[in-house]
Amino acid sequence: MSGLSVKLKTPHTGEYEQPTGLFINNEWVKGVDGKTFEVINPATEEVITSVHEATEKDVDIAVQAARKAFNGPWRTETPENRGKLLVNLANLFEKNVDILAAVESLDNGKAITMAKGDVGAAVGCLRYYGGWADKIEGKVVDTNHETFNYIRKEPIGVCGQIIPWNFPLLMWAWKIGPAIAAGNVVVLKTAEQTPLSALVAANLVKEAGFPPGVVNIISGFGKVAGAAISSHMDIDKVAFTGSTVVGRQIMKAAAGSNLKKVTLELGGKSPNIVFDDADIENAISWVNFGIYFNHGQCCCAGSRVYVQEGIYDKFLQRFKERAQQNAVGDPFHPETFQGPQVSQLQFDRIMSYIEHGKSAGATVETGGKRKGDKGYFIEPTIFSNVTEDMKIVQEEIFGPVCSVSKFKTKDEVIALGNNSTYGLAAAVHTTNLNTALEVANSIRAGTVWVNSYNTLHWQLPFGGFKESGIGRELGEAAIENYIQTKTVSIRLGDALFG
Ligand code: NAI
Ligand code: MG
Repeated sequence: MSGLSVKLKTPHTGEYEQPTGLFINNEWVKGVDGKTFEVINPATEEVITSVHEATEKDVDIAVQAARKAFNGPWRTETPENRGKLLVNLANLFEKNVDILAAVESLDNGKAITMAKGDVGAAVGCLRYYGGWADKIEGKVVDTNHETFNYIRKEPIGVCGQIIPWNFPLLMWAWKIGPAIAAGNVVVLKTAEQTPLSALVAANLVKEAGFPPGVVNIISGFGKVAGAAISSHMDIDKVAFTGSTVVGRQIMKAAAGSNLKKVTLELGGKSPNIVFDDADIENAISWVNFGIYFNHGQCCCAGSRVYVQEGIYDKFLQRFKERAQQNAVGDPFHPETFQGPQVSQLQFDRIMSYIEHGKSAGATVETGGKRKGDKGYFIEPTIFSNVTEDMKIVQEEIFGPVCSVSKFKTKDEVIALGNNSTYGLAAAVHTTNLNTALEVANSIRAGTVWVNSYNTLHWQLPFGGFKESGIGRELGEAAIENYIQTKTVSIRLGDALFG
Protein backbone atom coordinates (compact mmCIF):
# COMPACT_ATOMS: atom_id res chain seq x y z
CA MET A 1 0.00 0.00 0.00
CA SER A 2 1.53 3.29 -0.99
CA GLY A 3 -1.10 6.05 -0.89
CA LEU A 4 -2.74 7.85 1.98
CA SER A 5 -6.27 6.72 1.24
CA VAL A 6 -8.11 3.91 -0.52
CA LYS A 7 -11.53 3.47 -2.02
CA LEU A 8 -13.53 0.99 0.03
CA LYS A 9 -17.11 -0.19 0.05
CA THR A 10 -19.55 -0.92 2.82
CA PRO A 11 -22.80 -2.79 2.20
CA HIS A 12 -24.57 0.08 3.94
CA THR A 13 -23.21 3.10 2.09
CA GLY A 14 -21.47 1.89 -1.05
CA GLU A 15 -18.09 3.34 -2.01
CA TYR A 16 -16.24 5.81 0.18
CA GLU A 17 -12.75 7.22 0.60
CA GLN A 18 -10.94 5.65 3.56
CA PRO A 19 -7.93 7.57 4.89
CA THR A 20 -5.05 5.22 5.76
CA GLY A 21 -2.32 7.60 6.90
CA LEU A 22 -1.35 9.06 10.24
CA PHE A 23 -3.24 12.26 11.03
CA ILE A 24 -0.62 14.66 12.39
CA ASN A 25 -0.80 18.45 12.32
CA ASN A 26 -4.06 18.25 10.32
CA GLU A 27 -2.25 16.42 7.54
CA TRP A 28 -2.15 12.84 6.34
CA VAL A 29 1.34 11.38 6.44
CA LYS A 30 3.04 8.01 6.22
CA GLY A 31 4.96 6.51 9.10
CA VAL A 32 8.68 7.37 9.11
CA ASP A 33 9.63 3.68 8.87
CA GLY A 34 7.16 3.12 6.04
CA LYS A 35 5.40 0.28 7.86
CA THR A 36 1.79 -0.73 7.33
CA PHE A 37 -0.48 -3.34 8.86
CA GLU A 38 -3.59 -5.17 7.73
CA VAL A 39 -7.10 -4.46 8.91
CA ILE A 40 -9.43 -7.46 9.14
CA ASN A 41 -13.19 -7.71 8.75
CA PRO A 42 -14.17 -9.98 11.65
CA ALA A 43 -17.41 -11.09 9.98
CA THR A 44 -15.57 -12.56 6.97
CA GLU A 45 -11.97 -12.88 8.26
CA GLU A 46 -10.90 -11.09 5.07
CA VAL A 47 -8.41 -8.24 4.80
CA ILE A 48 -10.23 -4.92 4.29
CA THR A 49 -7.14 -2.82 3.62
CA SER A 50 -3.86 -1.81 5.22
CA VAL A 51 -3.10 1.34 7.17
CA HIS A 52 0.13 3.13 7.97
CA GLU A 53 1.72 2.21 11.27
CA ALA A 54 3.10 4.69 13.76
CA THR A 55 6.30 3.75 15.53
CA GLU A 56 8.16 5.58 18.28
CA LYS A 57 9.44 8.15 15.76
CA ASP A 58 5.96 9.02 14.60
CA VAL A 59 4.78 9.36 18.19
CA ASP A 60 7.63 11.87 18.63
CA ILE A 61 6.54 13.83 15.58
CA ALA A 62 2.92 13.86 16.73
CA VAL A 63 3.95 14.98 20.22
CA GLN A 64 6.06 17.80 18.75
CA ALA A 65 3.08 18.96 16.67
CA ALA A 66 0.83 18.83 19.72
CA ARG A 67 3.35 20.67 21.90
CA LYS A 68 3.75 23.39 19.28
CA ALA A 69 -0.02 23.88 19.16
CA PHE A 70 -0.27 23.90 22.94
CA ASN A 71 2.47 26.50 23.33
CA GLY A 72 1.21 28.47 20.36
CA PRO A 73 -2.24 29.66 19.30
CA TRP A 74 -4.18 27.02 21.23
CA ARG A 75 -2.94 28.46 24.50
CA THR A 76 -4.83 31.68 23.96
CA GLU A 77 -7.83 30.20 22.18
CA THR A 78 -10.95 31.34 23.99
CA PRO A 79 -13.02 28.81 25.91
CA GLU A 80 -15.96 29.86 23.78
CA ASN A 81 -14.12 28.85 20.61
CA ARG A 82 -12.98 25.55 22.06
CA GLY A 83 -16.62 24.85 22.79
CA LYS A 84 -17.65 25.85 19.28
CA LEU A 85 -15.09 23.50 17.75
CA LEU A 86 -16.43 20.57 19.74
CA VAL A 87 -20.00 21.45 18.79
CA ASN A 88 -18.94 21.69 15.13
CA LEU A 89 -17.38 18.26 15.45
CA ALA A 90 -20.54 16.88 17.06
CA ASN A 91 -22.63 18.30 14.21
CA LEU A 92 -20.30 16.72 11.64
CA PHE A 93 -20.54 13.35 13.38
CA GLU A 94 -24.32 13.69 13.26
CA LYS A 95 -24.25 14.56 9.57
CA ASN A 96 -21.94 11.64 8.80
CA VAL A 97 -23.69 9.05 10.96
CA ASP A 98 -24.22 6.60 8.09
CA ILE A 99 -20.63 6.40 6.95
CA LEU A 100 -19.16 6.48 10.46
CA ALA A 101 -21.47 3.68 11.60
CA ALA A 102 -20.87 1.62 8.47
CA VAL A 103 -17.08 1.82 8.82
CA GLU A 104 -17.42 0.89 12.48
CA SER A 105 -19.48 -2.19 11.61
CA LEU A 106 -17.10 -3.19 8.83
CA ASP A 107 -13.99 -3.01 10.98
CA ASN A 108 -15.30 -3.96 14.42
CA GLY A 109 -18.13 -6.30 13.46
CA LYS A 110 -20.76 -4.63 15.59
CA ALA A 111 -24.34 -4.62 14.36
CA ILE A 112 -25.12 -1.57 12.25
CA THR A 113 -28.01 -0.47 14.50
CA MET A 114 -25.65 -0.59 17.48
CA ALA A 115 -22.95 1.28 15.55
CA LYS A 116 -25.46 4.04 14.82
CA GLY A 117 -26.23 4.13 18.53
CA ASP A 118 -22.52 4.56 19.25
CA VAL A 119 -22.29 7.47 16.81
CA GLY A 120 -25.34 9.06 18.49
CA ALA A 121 -23.65 8.72 21.87
CA ALA A 122 -20.43 10.19 20.45
CA VAL A 123 -22.43 13.18 19.19
CA GLY A 124 -24.01 13.64 22.62
CA CYS A 125 -20.63 13.39 24.32
CA LEU A 126 -18.83 15.87 22.03
CA ARG A 127 -21.69 18.37 22.24
CA TYR A 128 -21.87 18.02 26.02
CA TYR A 129 -18.16 18.78 26.39
CA GLY A 130 -18.54 21.64 23.94
CA GLY A 131 -20.90 23.07 26.55
CA TRP A 132 -18.35 22.59 29.31
CA ALA A 133 -15.53 24.51 27.62
CA ASP A 134 -16.62 27.93 28.93
CA LYS A 135 -17.81 26.69 32.32
CA ILE A 136 -14.52 25.61 33.84
CA GLU A 137 -14.05 28.12 36.60
CA GLY A 138 -11.53 28.96 39.29
CA LYS A 139 -12.02 30.47 42.71
CA VAL A 140 -10.94 33.33 44.93
CA VAL A 141 -9.75 32.31 48.41
CA ASP A 142 -9.41 34.79 51.23
CA THR A 143 -6.50 34.04 53.57
CA ASN A 144 -5.74 37.42 55.12
CA HIS A 145 -6.03 41.12 54.52
CA GLU A 146 -2.67 41.51 52.76
CA THR A 147 -3.16 38.80 50.16
CA PHE A 148 -5.32 38.20 47.14
CA ASN A 149 -5.39 34.53 46.13
CA TYR A 150 -6.98 33.05 43.09
CA ILE A 151 -7.11 29.47 41.94
CA ARG A 152 -6.93 28.77 38.22
CA LYS A 153 -7.98 25.57 36.48
CA GLU A 154 -5.42 25.04 33.74
CA PRO A 155 -5.13 22.35 31.09
CA ILE A 156 -2.56 19.61 31.74
CA GLY A 157 -0.94 19.89 28.30
CA VAL A 158 -0.16 17.17 25.80
CA CYS A 159 -2.41 14.19 26.46
CA GLY A 160 -1.57 10.73 25.12
CA GLN A 161 -4.77 8.77 24.74
CA ILE A 162 -4.81 5.03 24.09
CA ILE A 163 -8.15 3.51 23.21
CA PRO A 164 -9.48 -0.03 22.69
CA TRP A 165 -11.37 -1.73 19.87
CA ASN A 166 -14.73 -2.44 21.50
CA PHE A 167 -16.16 1.07 20.98
CA PRO A 168 -13.65 2.73 18.66
CA LEU A 169 -15.65 5.88 17.88
CA LEU A 170 -17.24 6.26 21.25
CA MET A 171 -13.91 5.97 23.08
CA TRP A 172 -12.51 8.50 20.62
CA ALA A 173 -15.23 10.95 21.68
CA TRP A 174 -15.00 10.15 25.41
CA LYS A 175 -11.28 10.90 25.30
CA ILE A 176 -11.20 13.90 22.98
CA GLY A 177 -14.28 15.71 24.35
CA PRO A 178 -13.15 16.52 27.90
CA ALA A 179 -9.48 16.93 26.93
CA ILE A 180 -10.30 19.63 24.37
CA ALA A 181 -12.97 21.29 26.52
CA ALA A 182 -10.34 21.82 29.20
CA GLY A 183 -7.81 23.26 26.71
CA ASN A 184 -5.46 20.32 26.21
CA VAL A 185 -4.00 18.91 23.00
CA VAL A 186 -4.18 15.28 22.04
CA VAL A 187 -2.21 12.44 20.49
CA LEU A 188 -4.66 9.55 20.27
CA LYS A 189 -3.70 6.01 19.33
CA THR A 190 -6.43 3.65 18.19
CA ALA A 191 -6.42 -0.09 18.77
CA GLU A 192 -4.62 -2.09 16.09
CA GLN A 193 -7.77 -4.20 15.52
CA THR A 194 -9.96 -1.21 14.59
CA PRO A 195 -8.17 1.82 13.14
CA LEU A 196 -10.59 2.76 10.36
CA SER A 197 -13.45 4.78 11.88
CA ALA A 198 -11.09 7.03 13.85
CA LEU A 199 -9.37 8.01 10.60
CA VAL A 200 -12.68 8.90 8.96
CA ALA A 201 -13.42 10.96 12.07
CA ALA A 202 -10.00 12.65 11.83
CA ASN A 203 -11.08 14.24 8.56
CA LEU A 204 -14.01 15.73 10.47
CA VAL A 205 -11.59 17.26 12.99
CA LYS A 206 -10.04 19.27 10.18
CA GLU A 207 -13.42 20.14 8.69
CA ALA A 208 -14.67 21.33 12.10
CA GLY A 209 -11.90 23.94 12.09
CA PHE A 210 -9.47 22.66 14.70
CA PRO A 211 -6.04 24.30 14.35
CA PRO A 212 -3.18 21.98 13.26
CA GLY A 213 -1.63 19.87 16.01
CA VAL A 214 -4.50 20.08 18.47
CA VAL A 215 -5.90 16.64 17.68
CA ASN A 216 -3.55 14.01 16.23
CA ILE A 217 -4.76 10.48 15.45
CA ILE A 218 -2.35 7.61 14.88
CA SER A 219 -2.73 3.90 14.13
CA GLY A 220 -0.28 1.49 15.65
CA PHE A 221 0.45 -1.37 17.99
CA GLY A 222 0.33 -1.27 21.77
CA LYS A 223 3.85 -2.55 22.37
CA VAL A 224 5.31 -0.01 19.92
CA ALA A 225 3.29 3.22 19.62
CA GLY A 226 1.31 2.65 22.83
CA ALA A 227 4.45 2.05 24.87
CA ALA A 228 6.09 5.09 23.24
CA ILE A 229 3.17 7.21 24.45
CA SER A 230 3.16 5.96 28.02
CA SER A 231 6.91 6.41 28.42
CA HIS A 232 7.23 9.67 26.46
CA MET A 233 9.08 12.46 28.26
CA ASP A 234 7.01 15.25 26.73
CA ILE A 235 3.51 13.84 27.21
CA ASP A 236 1.94 15.32 30.34
CA LYS A 237 -0.89 12.90 30.80
CA VAL A 238 -1.88 9.46 29.57
CA ALA A 239 -5.48 8.27 29.47
CA PHE A 240 -6.02 4.60 28.74
CA THR A 241 -8.92 2.24 28.25
CA GLY A 242 -8.19 -1.46 27.93
CA SER A 243 -7.00 -4.46 29.88
CA THR A 244 -5.90 -4.34 33.49
CA VAL A 245 -2.60 -5.99 32.54
CA VAL A 246 -1.73 -3.15 30.16
CA GLY A 247 -3.10 -0.57 32.62
CA ARG A 248 -0.45 -1.69 35.09
CA GLN A 249 2.27 -1.42 32.42
CA ILE A 250 1.15 2.09 31.57
CA MET A 251 1.35 3.18 35.19
CA LYS A 252 4.83 1.70 35.45
CA ALA A 253 5.94 3.44 32.26
CA ALA A 254 4.55 6.75 33.52
CA ALA A 255 6.36 6.28 36.84
CA GLY A 256 9.58 5.34 35.07
CA SER A 257 9.55 8.29 32.70
CA ASN A 258 8.24 11.76 33.59
CA LEU A 259 5.55 10.87 36.14
CA LYS A 260 2.86 11.90 33.70
CA LYS A 261 -0.67 11.93 35.13
CA VAL A 262 -2.49 8.66 34.57
CA THR A 263 -6.15 7.79 34.23
CA LEU A 264 -7.20 4.22 33.56
CA GLU A 265 -10.48 2.62 32.60
CA LEU A 266 -9.95 -1.11 32.88
CA GLY A 267 -11.74 -4.40 33.11
CA GLY A 268 -14.69 -5.64 35.09
CA LYS A 269 -16.60 -8.70 36.22
CA SER A 270 -19.83 -7.00 37.09
CA PRO A 271 -22.61 -8.62 39.13
CA ASN A 272 -26.20 -8.45 37.89
CA ILE A 273 -28.49 -9.28 40.81
CA VAL A 274 -32.12 -10.35 40.47
CA PHE A 275 -34.36 -10.58 43.54
CA ASP A 276 -37.51 -12.72 43.87
CA ASP A 277 -39.69 -9.61 43.78
CA ALA A 278 -38.27 -8.28 40.46
CA ASP A 279 -40.45 -7.81 37.41
CA ILE A 280 -39.07 -10.99 35.86
CA GLU A 281 -39.64 -10.24 32.17
CA ASN A 282 -38.07 -6.83 32.53
CA ALA A 283 -35.15 -8.27 34.49
CA ILE A 284 -34.53 -10.93 31.84
CA SER A 285 -34.43 -8.29 29.10
CA TRP A 286 -31.89 -6.22 31.00
CA VAL A 287 -29.79 -9.21 32.01
CA ASN A 288 -29.75 -10.31 28.37
CA PHE A 289 -28.77 -6.82 27.22
CA GLY A 290 -26.31 -6.52 30.13
CA ILE A 291 -24.19 -9.43 28.94
CA TYR A 292 -24.81 -9.75 25.20
CA PHE A 293 -24.76 -6.08 24.13
CA ASN A 294 -21.71 -5.47 21.93
CA HIS A 295 -21.10 -9.25 21.90
CA GLY A 296 -20.10 -9.14 25.56
CA GLN A 297 -17.14 -6.93 24.67
CA CYS A 298 -18.00 -4.32 27.29
CA CYS A 299 -15.84 -3.45 30.26
CA CYS A 300 -19.04 -3.17 32.32
CA ALA A 301 -20.70 -6.36 30.97
CA GLY A 302 -23.00 -7.98 33.52
CA SER A 303 -21.19 -11.30 33.39
CA ARG A 304 -22.03 -12.66 36.86
CA VAL A 305 -25.78 -13.12 37.19
CA TYR A 306 -27.09 -13.85 40.69
CA VAL A 307 -30.74 -14.88 40.99
CA GLN A 308 -32.67 -15.35 44.24
CA GLU A 309 -33.77 -18.92 44.92
CA GLY A 310 -37.55 -18.34 44.70
CA ILE A 311 -37.44 -17.49 40.97
CA TYR A 312 -34.15 -19.13 40.02
CA ASP A 313 -35.55 -22.06 37.98
CA LYS A 314 -38.13 -19.97 36.16
CA PHE A 315 -35.61 -17.19 35.49
CA LEU A 316 -33.00 -19.55 34.11
CA GLN A 317 -35.47 -21.24 31.76
CA ARG A 318 -36.81 -17.93 30.41
CA PHE A 319 -33.37 -16.31 30.19
CA LYS A 320 -32.15 -19.29 28.16
CA GLU A 321 -35.04 -18.87 25.74
CA ARG A 322 -34.37 -15.14 25.52
CA ALA A 323 -30.65 -15.63 24.79
CA GLN A 324 -31.47 -18.12 22.04
CA GLN A 325 -33.61 -15.48 20.32
CA ASN A 326 -30.76 -12.98 19.99
CA ALA A 327 -30.08 -12.58 16.28
CA VAL A 328 -26.41 -13.46 15.74
CA GLY A 329 -25.03 -12.85 12.26
CA ASP A 330 -24.14 -10.36 9.53
CA PRO A 331 -23.45 -6.96 11.17
CA PHE A 332 -25.07 -5.20 8.21
CA HIS A 333 -28.40 -7.00 8.51
CA PRO A 334 -30.82 -4.55 10.16
CA GLU A 335 -32.21 -7.24 12.50
CA THR A 336 -28.80 -8.37 13.79
CA PHE A 337 -28.17 -7.90 17.49
CA GLN A 338 -24.85 -9.70 17.85
CA GLY A 339 -22.05 -9.73 15.30
CA PRO A 340 -18.68 -11.49 15.41
CA GLN A 341 -16.05 -11.05 18.11
CA VAL A 342 -13.43 -8.53 17.05
CA SER A 343 -10.50 -10.82 16.22
CA GLN A 344 -9.19 -14.35 16.03
CA LEU A 345 -7.29 -13.72 19.25
CA GLN A 346 -10.40 -12.60 21.15
CA PHE A 347 -12.38 -15.48 19.65
CA ASP A 348 -9.76 -17.96 20.84
CA ARG A 349 -9.60 -16.40 24.31
CA ILE A 350 -13.36 -16.66 24.74
CA MET A 351 -13.54 -20.24 23.43
CA SER A 352 -10.80 -21.25 25.81
CA TYR A 353 -12.79 -19.77 28.73
CA ILE A 354 -15.81 -21.76 27.56
CA GLU A 355 -13.74 -24.95 27.43
CA HIS A 356 -12.36 -24.14 30.86
CA GLY A 357 -15.88 -23.74 32.27
CA LYS A 358 -16.91 -27.09 30.82
CA SER A 359 -13.91 -28.93 32.18
CA ALA A 360 -14.30 -27.29 35.59
CA GLY A 361 -17.75 -28.92 35.81
CA ALA A 362 -20.08 -26.00 35.03
CA THR A 363 -23.20 -26.74 32.97
CA VAL A 364 -23.67 -25.13 29.56
CA GLU A 365 -27.35 -24.14 29.58
CA THR A 366 -27.20 -22.73 26.07
CA GLY A 367 -24.54 -21.83 23.51
CA GLY A 368 -20.95 -22.82 24.16
CA LYS A 369 -20.03 -23.15 20.50
CA ARG A 370 -18.82 -21.25 17.49
CA LYS A 371 -21.61 -20.13 15.17
CA GLY A 372 -21.03 -20.85 11.49
CA ASP A 373 -17.64 -21.60 10.03
CA LYS A 374 -16.58 -18.17 8.81
CA GLY A 375 -16.20 -15.07 10.95
CA TYR A 376 -15.57 -14.94 14.69
CA PHE A 377 -19.16 -15.65 15.76
CA ILE A 378 -19.90 -17.26 19.13
CA GLU A 379 -23.30 -18.39 20.38
CA PRO A 380 -24.72 -16.51 23.36
CA THR A 381 -23.62 -18.73 26.23
CA ILE A 382 -24.99 -19.29 29.74
CA PHE A 383 -23.26 -21.38 32.40
CA SER A 384 -24.98 -22.66 35.52
CA ASN A 385 -23.71 -24.86 38.37
CA VAL A 386 -20.69 -22.65 38.79
CA THR A 387 -18.64 -22.11 41.93
CA GLU A 388 -17.17 -18.77 42.93
CA ASP A 389 -13.61 -20.00 42.53
CA MET A 390 -14.01 -20.97 38.87
CA LYS A 391 -12.00 -18.95 36.36
CA ILE A 392 -15.19 -18.20 34.38
CA VAL A 393 -16.64 -16.51 37.50
CA GLN A 394 -13.46 -14.68 38.49
CA GLU A 395 -11.93 -13.45 35.23
CA GLU A 396 -13.13 -11.07 32.58
CA ILE A 397 -14.11 -13.12 29.51
CA PHE A 398 -15.07 -10.19 27.28
CA GLY A 399 -17.42 -12.26 25.18
CA PRO A 400 -21.05 -13.44 25.07
CA VAL A 401 -20.67 -15.65 28.13
CA CYS A 402 -22.20 -15.35 31.59
CA SER A 403 -22.71 -17.48 34.65
CA VAL A 404 -25.96 -17.73 36.59
CA SER A 405 -25.86 -18.59 40.31
CA LYS A 406 -28.46 -18.91 43.03
CA PHE A 407 -28.52 -16.87 46.24
CA LYS A 408 -30.72 -16.81 49.35
CA THR A 409 -30.32 -13.51 51.19
CA LYS A 410 -29.51 -9.88 50.53
CA ASP A 411 -26.40 -9.97 52.71
CA GLU A 412 -25.17 -13.06 50.93
CA VAL A 413 -25.56 -11.51 47.48
CA ILE A 414 -23.89 -8.27 48.52
CA ALA A 415 -20.88 -10.31 49.63
CA LEU A 416 -20.95 -12.30 46.37
CA GLY A 417 -21.28 -9.12 44.32
CA ASN A 418 -18.24 -7.67 46.03
CA ASN A 419 -16.25 -10.89 45.68
CA SER A 420 -14.11 -9.56 42.82
CA THR A 421 -10.91 -7.65 42.36
CA TYR A 422 -12.89 -5.47 39.95
CA GLY A 423 -15.44 -2.77 40.73
CA LEU A 424 -16.65 -1.18 37.53
CA ALA A 425 -20.42 -1.71 37.51
CA ALA A 426 -23.32 -3.68 38.98
CA ALA A 427 -27.09 -3.88 38.75
CA VAL A 428 -29.94 -4.84 41.02
CA HIS A 429 -33.42 -5.84 39.88
CA THR A 430 -36.16 -5.52 42.50
CA THR A 431 -39.46 -3.73 43.11
CA ASN A 432 -38.48 -3.00 46.71
CA LEU A 433 -36.93 0.45 47.08
CA ASN A 434 -35.13 -0.43 50.30
CA THR A 435 -33.51 -3.49 48.72
CA ALA A 436 -32.48 -1.44 45.69
CA LEU A 437 -30.86 1.29 47.75
CA GLU A 438 -29.18 -1.02 50.22
CA VAL A 439 -27.59 -3.06 47.44
CA ALA A 440 -26.68 0.05 45.42
CA ASN A 441 -24.96 1.58 48.44
CA SER A 442 -23.16 -1.63 49.42
CA ILE A 443 -21.68 -2.74 46.13
CA ARG A 444 -18.20 -1.36 45.57
CA ALA A 445 -18.52 -0.30 41.96
CA GLY A 446 -18.36 2.94 39.99
CA THR A 447 -21.87 2.56 38.53
CA VAL A 448 -24.90 0.71 39.89
CA TRP A 449 -28.00 0.35 37.74
CA VAL A 450 -31.39 -0.37 39.27
CA ASN A 451 -33.87 -2.25 37.06
CA SER A 452 -31.75 -1.56 33.98
CA TYR A 453 -28.27 -2.17 32.57
CA ASN A 454 -25.71 -0.47 30.31
CA THR A 455 -27.66 2.79 30.24
CA LEU A 456 -24.54 4.95 30.20
CA HIS A 457 -24.96 8.64 29.54
CA TRP A 458 -22.37 11.29 28.82
CA GLN A 459 -23.66 13.41 31.72
CA LEU A 460 -22.99 10.63 34.24
CA PRO A 461 -19.50 9.77 35.52
CA PHE A 462 -18.25 6.30 34.64
CA GLY A 463 -15.21 4.48 35.95
CA GLY A 464 -13.84 1.94 38.32
CA PHE A 465 -13.48 1.16 41.98
CA LYS A 466 -10.70 -1.27 42.94
CA GLU A 467 -8.73 -2.71 39.98
CA SER A 468 -11.20 -1.39 37.43
CA GLY A 469 -9.39 1.87 37.13
CA ILE A 470 -8.30 5.30 38.24
CA GLY A 471 -10.26 8.45 37.52
CA ARG A 472 -13.63 8.91 35.86
CA GLU A 473 -14.81 9.47 32.33
CA LEU A 474 -17.91 11.41 31.29
CA GLY A 475 -19.78 14.01 33.29
CA GLU A 476 -18.09 16.82 35.14
CA ALA A 477 -15.76 14.22 36.66
CA ALA A 478 -13.91 13.76 33.37
CA ILE A 479 -13.10 17.46 33.23
CA GLU A 480 -11.36 17.06 36.60
CA ASN A 481 -9.02 14.55 34.98
CA TYR A 482 -7.93 17.05 32.33
CA ILE A 483 -7.19 20.11 34.45
CA GLN A 484 -4.65 20.99 37.02
CA THR A 485 -4.96 23.54 39.75
CA LYS A 486 -2.75 26.58 40.02
CA THR A 487 -2.68 28.90 43.01
CA VAL A 488 -1.75 32.53 42.39
CA SER A 489 -1.10 34.43 45.57
CA ILE A 490 -0.65 38.21 45.35
CA ARG A 491 0.82 40.27 48.14
CA LEU A 492 -1.20 43.47 48.34
CA GLY A 493 -0.28 46.98 49.43
CA ASP A 494 3.17 48.35 50.10
CA ALA A 495 3.91 46.77 53.49
CA LEU A 496 7.57 45.75 53.65
CA PHE A 497 8.40 42.07 54.09
CA GLY A 498 9.82 41.15 57.50
P1 NAI B 1 -5.14 -4.20 25.42
O1 NAI B 1 -5.20 -3.62 26.78
O2 NAI B 1 -3.88 -4.91 25.02
O3 NAI B 1 -5.40 -3.08 24.31
C1 NAI B 1 -6.04 -1.85 24.53
C2 NAI B 1 -5.20 -0.72 23.95
O4 NAI B 1 -3.94 -0.67 24.60
C3 NAI B 1 -4.88 -0.87 22.46
O5 NAI B 1 -4.89 0.41 21.86
C4 NAI B 1 -3.47 -1.42 22.48
O6 NAI B 1 -2.75 -1.12 21.31
C5 NAI B 1 -2.89 -0.70 23.66
N1 NAI B 1 -1.73 -1.36 24.28
C6 NAI B 1 -1.46 -2.70 24.34
N2 NAI B 1 -0.30 -2.92 24.96
C7 NAI B 1 0.19 -1.72 25.31
C8 NAI B 1 1.37 -1.28 26.00
N3 NAI B 1 2.27 -2.16 26.44
N4 NAI B 1 1.54 0.04 26.19
C9 NAI B 1 0.62 0.93 25.78
N5 NAI B 1 -0.50 0.59 25.11
C10 NAI B 1 -0.71 -0.72 24.88
O7 NAI B 1 -6.35 -5.18 25.26
P2 NAI B 1 -6.57 -6.35 24.18
O8 NAI B 1 -5.40 -7.26 24.12
O9 NAI B 1 -7.04 -5.77 22.94
O10 NAI B 1 -7.75 -7.14 24.90
C11 NAI B 1 -7.44 -8.02 25.98
C12 NAI B 1 -8.46 -7.95 27.07
O11 NAI B 1 -8.48 -6.64 27.61
C13 NAI B 1 -9.88 -8.21 26.63
O12 NAI B 1 -10.16 -9.57 26.56
C14 NAI B 1 -10.62 -7.52 27.74
O13 NAI B 1 -10.69 -8.36 28.86
C15 NAI B 1 -9.77 -6.32 28.06
N6 NAI B 1 -10.23 -5.08 27.40
C16 NAI B 1 -10.94 -4.18 28.13
C17 NAI B 1 -11.45 -3.05 27.53
C18 NAI B 1 -12.25 -2.04 28.28
O14 NAI B 1 -13.14 -1.44 27.70
N7 NAI B 1 -11.94 -1.79 29.54
C19 NAI B 1 -11.29 -2.81 26.10
C20 NAI B 1 -10.47 -3.79 25.41
C21 NAI B 1 -9.98 -4.89 26.07
MG1 MG C 1 -10.93 -5.08 12.25
